[in-house]
Amino acid sequence: MTAKNEPARAAVLGWPASHSLSPRLHGYWLGELGINGIYRAVSVEPEKFVDKLRMLTAEGYKGFNITLPHKQMALAAVEEADTEARRIGAVNTIVVDRDGRLLGSNTDGYGFIENLKTNPAGLNIETIISGGPAVVLGAGGAARSVVAALDNAGAPEIRLVNRTVEKAQALVRDISREKGAAIAVFSWPERQVALTDAALLVNATALGMTGKPALEIVLDNLPLDALVTDIVYTPLVTPLLAAAAGRGNPTVDGLGMLLHQARPGFNAWFGTWPEITPRLRENILAGIAARE
Ligand code: ATR
Repeated sequence: MTAKNEPARAAVLGWPASHSLSPRLHGYWLGELGINGIYRAVSVEPEKFVDKLRMLTAEGYKGFNITLPHKQMALAAVEEADTEARRIGAVNTIVVDRDGRLLGSNTDGYGFIENLKTNPAGLNIETIISGGPAVVLGAGGAARSVVAALDNAGAPEIRLVNRTVEKAQALVRDISREKGAAIAVFSWPERQVALTDAALLVNATALGMTGKPALEIVLDNLPLDALVTDIVYTPLVTPLLAAAAGRGNPTVDGLGMLLHQARPGFNAWFGTWPEITPRLRENILAGIAARE
C-alpha cells in the first residue's frame, strides 16, 4: 500500500525494457503536470515475469505497461482482462485495483483510432471507417490490434493481407472467437488488387522501417480519397506515406498511435488525462533519434 505523500508508481515491463519510449513519455507528462509520480523501465526475463509482476504489485505499484515479449503472458497473469485484450490475445496495460487485483486491457486499438482522428485533413474517422473496406497489411501483434479496432469501429469489410496466409487465418480465427467480424484474407501478391474501392489503408508490418526491407506496393488501385496510415514511425514519413501524399491521399503518421495508447494507463495510475501536444511529439522524436 502506498502512503498518502509517497509518489504513485508505475512501470513498463519488457525483455529488454531499455528500448521502451514509455518512461520518457510518462516522465514528460508527470513533469508537465507536476504530479508526484514515478515511472520506471523494468527488464525482466520471461521466466521471471509473473513473479516480478506480483512483487511490484505487493510493493504498491499502481500499474504497468507490458511490452515484448510479455504481452501474451500478461493476459494469462491478470485476474481480469477486457474484451479487447481477450480478442487480441495480449495485454499492454495493467491497473492494480484497491484489492490488489490486476486488471488487464489492451489500449493499442484505442491509440490507433485516436491517432486517426488527428488526421491533418480533418476527416471524420467514423465516416471513413464505416464508409468502405479497410486494407490491413500484416498479421503480427500490431495488426491484431488494428483489425480488432477497425471491427469495433464498424468497418464493413476488412481485407487482411499477409505474406504467410496461415498467420492471417489464425488472426481471423482468434479475433472472431468472441464476436464475428467481416475479414477477408488476401495473399501478399494480391495486395494491389485488395486496394480497389478501399476507404483506408494501414501498414501494420514493419516493412519500411529504418533498417527493414522496403514495403513494395503500387497504389494505383487505391481511391484518391482513401486515408493512408502506417504503424511505422521511424522514419516518421515512411515511403508509403510519402507515396500516398504524393498522389493526393490524406495520410496520418504512426507516432500518435504510440502516444495515444499510453493515455488510459496514465489516467488510471496518476489520475489525470494527459494531453498530446506538438512539444511532446518533438520530445519523443528527440528520444527516438537519440536511441538510433
Ligand atoms: P509484430 O508482432 O511486432 O507485429 P511480427 O509478428 O514479426 O511482428 O509481424 C511482422 C509482420 O510483417 C508480419 O505480418 C510479417 O509477415 P509474415 O506473417 O508472413 O511473417 C510481415 N513481414 C515481415 N517481413 C516481410 C516481408 N519481407 N514481406 C512481407 N511481409 C513481411
